[in-house]
Amino acid sequence: MSEKETAYQKCINPDCGAEFDRGQPLFKCPECGELLDACYDWNRVEVPEKLSDFAKRWATRSNRLDFSGVWRFRELLNFCEDKYKISIGEGQTILQKNDSVAKYVDMKPGCLFLQYEGLNPSGSFKDNGMTAAFSHAIMVGATSCACASTGNTSASVALYAQSCGIKCTVFIGSGRIAFGKLSQAMDYGAQTIQILGDFDDCMKQVQSVCTELGLYLLNSLNPFRLEGQKTIMFRIIEALGWEVPDWIVVPGGNLGNSSAFGKAFFELKQLGLINKIPRLAIINATGADTLTDMVNNKKLAWNNGKVNQQIIDDFYADLTRRSFSPHTCASAIEISRPVNLKKCLRAIDVCKGVVRAVTDAEILDAKAVIGKYGLGCEPASAATIAGLKHLRTEGIIGSDERVACVLTGHPLKDPNVTVNYHKDKLGIFSNPPIEAPNDLDAIIKLIK
Ligand code: F0G
Repeated sequence: MSEKETAYQKCINPDCGAEFDRGQPLFKCPECGELLDACYDWNRVEVPEKLSDFAKRWATRSNRLDFSGVWRFRELLNFCEDKYKISIGEGQTILQKNDSVAKYVDMKPGCLFLQYEGLNPSGSFKDNGMTAAFSHAIMVGATSCACASTGNTSASVALYAQSCGIKCTVFIGSGRIAFGKLSQAMDYGAQTIQILGDFDDCMKQVQSVCTELGLYLLNSLNPFRLEGQKTIMFRIIEALGWEVPDWIVVPGGNLGNSSAFGKAFFELKQLGLINKIPRLAIINATGADTLTDMVNNKKLAWNNGKVNQQIIDDFYADLTRRSFSPHTCASAIEISRPVNLKKCLRAIDVCKGVVRAVTDAEILDAKAVIGKYGLGCEPASAATIAGLKHLRTEGIIGSDERVACVLTGHPLKDPNVTVNYHKDKLGIFSNPPIEAPNDLDAIIKLIK
């Protein structure tokens, strides 16, 4: 690395710890192959004295960077100059107190909050990450980019690529992607390549394609993308009057969010901007529960960065031997080889995290409850409420603790799952349409 700048990249493996320039588009440590972090020399960053100082930006919302729910916290993700920053209005999301959903999970009124990330321009939390990653892509002069996706990443990448004038190719697994998401990638003009395989196959291929062709990679292996996702936590704290909740609950797929959230809290604590770190609950689907199995059964842990690689290698070798492909109605988190596994283990360590897996039936009922009483969400997002219900039953989360669940995607992302649940009466909250003859009296009799 040339003379050390304020922001740089660093390998997360403590035995390696190699550092690289922020201007190098990397997605793995060139020395040892491990994940990379975006790091800062905080002594050279003008960080506000207290988090509430960020509220000043509300008065200057005509500045597009102050309007962005990501860039209004820009001192905490200070890796590129303002002139490179792209924003299309991401992060205008809200934290809603929801007492009806709280009742469903046996929590006291006033304790449960839903962070609805479906309000983002492409309808999912991914836009928080893409505004950051695309700003980096512009900074390094990328002209062509790619990603693998279960759907939302591709929608977000396609939208931002089009806004930046960068050529874009997205890789999706065959038959696994929800219709709303597929429609977005095509509509935003991305070259969409459907591989005969699942997300994990796509993830592997896209890394090789990016290396061979020099394309800019936008999956959460990209350390700058995760910097943008940290701001979901900043907005939750902001909405709670700059207070930290007791728990954050998040679905676990490729484990980018959980990794970013852990990093966000670690840095805020290190900077003296918060005095306590919330606990993190990461929720898998039972049909794609690599993290749950490895952490709860195989006892895989961060262990100061000395992660037991043998456990991971044996686990994946077994998946290969069984030709295992994950399956869940929550297609967004249908992933069995999460690329951010080690960063997520670090987040679990920082946030005293817990991991659980929930069934598709539990996800679908929770989704219907969020639809009925909240703003709705896609299936993967509902894993949070299903997981919280488990953790309440187990007594791990108290009924009066303050909990924020991240609803990662919009309900219209996956209308098929919703329609089938209601029309085919798949759960206790099914609300199918009632057929009526074309006759006024008969219609009136049906109105409850
Ligand atoms: N929720 C939704 C709606 C998602 O789209 C994803 C991931 C997740 C949760 C899991 O988040 O990977 O940070 O643990 N979707 C990716 C995609 C994989 O390709 O759209 P994670």
